[in-house]
Amino acid sequence: MGKLDMSSEANAFMNLVGKTATLAPTGCGGNSVRVVPMMSAKSVLYSKVSGATCGVRMPSGMAALSAANIATIKTWIDTGAGM
Ligand code: HEM
Repeated sequence: MGKLDMSSEANAFMNLVGKTATLAPTGCGGNSVRVVPMMSAKSVLYSKVSGATCGVRMPSGMAALSAANIATIKTWIDTGAGM
């Protein structure tokens, strides 16, 4: 896996929401925060899994997430990302 600790819901939340991306901020449309609550379009996490131009698509080296799973992530962010 990469270096993002998403091993539990709490760890994932802590490392994603409102946190500045460290590895690939360039090529993400100028966005540099992993998850911006309410704004999937500004969230590096969403860009990385949805295939938007943001470096390597995640999960790296594996099949892309299903459209349903990508939609779940989008909805989660756009409804507040647990905030
Ligand atoms: C669904 C699973 C995954 C998600 C949601 C995910 C998400 C992300 C995100 C949001 C970043 C950007 C982090 C930052 O710039 O701060 C990233 C970078 C990275 N991930 Fe993943 N990742 C996943 C799976 C994987 C896997 C399986 C690998 C390796 C086998 C991997 C390797 C990397 C690497 C090397 C980077 C840095 C290079 C880059 O940003 O393109 N990831 N990932």
